[in-house]
Amino acid sequence: MTSPDFNDRMLSLGLARVSEAAALASATLIGRGDEKAADQAAVNAMREQLNKLDIAGVVVIGEGERDEAPMLFIGEEVGSGTGPGVDIALDPLEGTTLTAKDMPNALTVIAMGPRGSMLHAPDVYMDKLAIGPGFKDGVVTLAMSPAERVSALAAAKGCSIEDITVCVLERPRHEDMIAEIRSTGAAIRLITDGDVAGVMHCAEAATTGIDMYMGSGGAPEGVLAAAALKCMGGQMFGKLLFRNDDERGRAAKAGITNFDRVYTRDDMVTSDVIFAATGVTDGSLLSGIKREPGFLTAETILMRSKTGSVRRMTYRNPV
Ligand code: FBP
Repeated sequence: MTSPDFNDRMLSLGLARVSEAAALASATLIGRGDEKAADQAAVNAMREQLNKLDIAGVVVIGEGERDEAPMLFIGEEVGSGTGPGVDIALDPLEGTTLTAKDMPNALTVIAMGPRGSMLHAPDVYMDKLAIGPGFKDGVVTLAMSPAERVSALAAAKGCSIEDITVCVLERPRHEDMIAEIRSTGAAIRLITDGDVAGVMHCAEAATTGIDMYMGSGGAPEGVLAAAALKCMGGQMFGKLLFRNDDERGRAAKAGITNFDRVYTRDDMVTSDVIFAATGVTDGSLLSGIKREPGFLTAETILMRSKTGSVRRMTYRNPV
């Protein structure tokens, strides 16, 4: 029997339920200083809800390799098994430390596409560059220096460099890049974690105030961010970074042969995808979970790349 088609429209509401469930499960752990407990609660809930969907899903971006993650590991089959064959990329809690410390922009994230549609990114770093929609292809590239990217984007936007804000993960490895960006006169929004949200911010620059994302972060998060931008519009580039042979081995095991390849957004996610994210802590894109006696309220963004539709949904859940 051939697998039924990927009916993204029908599946999308189910996907929103999955990200909502993970966020609601982590609600009582926001601001409690326990990253592991928050992550575990989100993982359990996401897996339980995912297994209710009528899909024959395989996790391609997950919690880790099979031997290091007991649940939602790479290769795990999820869903009821009856339905279309799909690839799943997920991060049940993107920003475990943000959640434990009740800092902004922690999200639960999940994307789904037809089988074979997503890059099987190993758990290594990725050099990332992203901008929002409305610019000519390749107006900024990974080959440019950080200063060149800033001036190219300002020219394309028709604004002065001082009006550009770049989002960067605050890490010692980014010190030189940060200094170079500052030397141009551009502003930098430093984030301590959560670069999926960092990249997504570029797609709604007027709301978030962020024009460009750059720097290295997790490669799995890179694929999730590419899925989000494919729905919201915008450009993204990613190049895997390897620190040793073990990391190169992980990439080879995932089927990667060209270790120097620069992936575009559409190389990372090759066909139509649906994407859902729910706010855990308050952020510039989504509100975090709100608690009131007897209820938890969650805000979810649900998007389909086929139509470019971006829905924001508020779910008030009795507890
Ligand atoms: P968590 O896995 O703890 O949620 O961290 C998320 C994150 O900040 C990502 O958003 C980012 O891609 C990655 O960690 C950065 O890695 P590192 O902390 O090693 O710089």
